[in-house]
Amino acid sequence: MAHEQHEQHEQHGQHGPGAGHGHAHGHGHGHGHDTEIDWAEMAPHLEAQAELFAPLYEKALSWLGKEVTEPGLIVDAGSGPGVVSCLFAEVFPGARVMAVDGSGPLLERARARAGRLGHADRFGTLTGELPGVLEELDYPADLIWAGRSLHHLGDQRAALAAFAERLAPGGTLAIMEGGLPSRFLPRDLGFGRPGLQARLDALEAEWFARMRADLPGAVEETEDWAALLSAAGLTHTRTRSFLLDLPAPASDRARAHIAASLDRLRDVFGDTLDADDRAVLDRLLDPQDPAGVHQRPDVFVLAAHSVHTAVKPVQ
Ligand SMILES: C[S@@+](CC[C@H](N)C(=O)[O-])C[C@H]1O[C@@H](n2cnc3c(N)ncnc32)[C@H](O)[C@@H]1O
Repeated sequence: MAHEQHEQHEQHGQHGPGAGHGHAHGHGHGHGHDTEIDWAEMAPHLEAQAELFAPLYEKALSWLGKEVTEPGLIVDAGSGPGVVSCLFAEVFPGARVMAVDGSGPLLERARARAGRLGHADRFGTLTGELPGVLEELDYPADLIWAGRSLHHLGDQRAALAAFAERLAPGGTLAIMEGGLPSRFLPRDLGFGRPGLQARLDALEAEWFARMRADLPGAVEETEDWAALLSAAGLTHTRTRSFLLDLPAPASDRARAHIAASLDRLRDVFGDTLDADDRAVLDRLLDPQDPAGVHQRPDVFVLAAHSVHTAVKPVQ
């Protein structure tokens, strides 16, 4: 059965975070928050990031493939530009994949990608606000994946309950949340005060808390994912973490990701950083500087993302 393509819900005020997650740009939407994101504007970064992280996603999906046998319908909730949705289509050749997101322009990219990769006949998109938009699905899902999207929803507990509601009996909910902050830089760069990336991580953690607090309907929640999945009526909770290890010397693609991520950090935290760290970041981002990330030989990408799964009981 081919999936319908819904375009009816235009995106409204979505919010989102940083490098591992997609960084806010300083301009916001006039509410004076530094935590609002223009998701469509983030498209190239989200796409490039997911492509770079493909080896990590492939490991995660291959693990899921052992947990979930022959899913008929896979829903990628908060799919963004559909890089991971298309990996699902590849890893599960018998499944239909529905990419769901609040951003129409990102889903356009997802459809174009699915077409290019030959998955169009079993690939659909649904545009609208999560989790409510899932009510528009014609069928319950055998696998719902929410990759780094749940933390953009104000009430994560309610969202998990809504996701669980849309699962078929025996279906699996898998969320990618948490892990470790990504690392790109040696602790000591040979100039500036050592430990820049740890200081940036601390700023990001504060930003993340502000981002969550600014979300519409924000509810504070203990992020015990297994407990939240159980509270949604699901069983057999499991967690596994997956590593992306791209050691130095970095490929051009990895280098571009590092530069784009640091550029976004410079944008968001430039005014918060002390003058020395800001000067170091400027130097790192200067394409002409041999000590910058465009040229130096010792930059790398090391990241870990956690996947938490649970199963809907068969009544
Ligand atoms: C960090 S991106 C993750 C994209 C993709 N899952 C990945 O891992 O590459 C978060 C995605 O969630 C979507 N999103 C955020 N808030 C949303 C909401 N309230 N309703 C629907 N989608 C939302 C954004 O448009 C964005 O595509």
